[in-house]
Amino acid sequence: MESRFDSKKNLVYKARCRGSLCVLKWFRREEAADREFALLDRAHGLGLRVPRPLDLWPGRAILMEFIPGENLCDLINEEPSLQIGLRLAEWYAGFHKAFPSDDGVLLKGDSILRNFVWRGGSPWGVDFEESRPGKPAEDIGEIICSILTTDPMFTWEKLSLSRLLIDHYQRLAPLEGVEDALAWALRETARRRREPSLLARACLVEKMGLEGLAEDPS
Ligand SMILES: Nc1ncnc2c1ncn2[C@@H]1O[C@H](COP(=O)(O)OP(=O)(O)O)[C@@H](O)[C@H]1O
Ligand SMILES: [Mg+2]
Repeated sequence: MESRFDSKKNLVYKARCRGSLCVLKWFRREEAADREFALLDRAHGLGLRVPRPLDLWPGRAILMEFIPGENLCDLINEEPSLQIGLRLAEWYAGFHKAFPSDDGVLLKGDSILRNFVWRGGSPWGVDFEESRPGKPAEDIGEIICSILTTDPMFTWEKLSLSRLLIDHYQRLAPLEGVEDALAWALRETARRRREPSLLARACLVEKMGLEGLAEDPS
């Protein structure tokens, strides 16, 4: 093993195997390994930007390609360029179009900045354990909540980037109810972090949409 990644749910290691770097992900939940391996296999086969899965230990662990690059959470908080909003919209539209479901799409799930690596000017998605059927707005509301509530929170640059992400996604695929989904994600984050100021932000989004966040709630 070379090192362990920061992760809350599972044990994730960078390792060297057959001369190249790869990632070993050891799951806490038994059924998750097989599901994540199968989804990576399908998504990688369709040419989506996800790691190539290499090996599966059923019910336990997967081995996958290591994606070199910068974690998107660090990058966006240092340099919130509008390019990131455009490329994220394209990543999600590509993923959602690849997996339509009965009444919506297959969501990425756990749509937070930490679950993307920025490589060669594009985001690469990792962590599909919480993938499930749903409406595209759930993924988009969650990633925008992650953008806005990581440090520094609610900056003008991040609001512009979020607006651009939504508009660009809507040029590529249908998206309804994203502001409700964002408000819901803000409430969840408020609850998890015990940070009531985020509840005020959720109310502003409900009343005025994303533009409501340009106001100071205090
Ligand atoms: N294939 C990969 N290439 C590069 N980094 C990865 C890869 N898989 C995971 N990571 C890094 O490891 C972290 C934890 O992995 P993740 O699959 O998100 O585990 P968890 O389910 O515990 O959140 C990710 O946030 C990412 O930074
Ligand atoms: Mg993760």
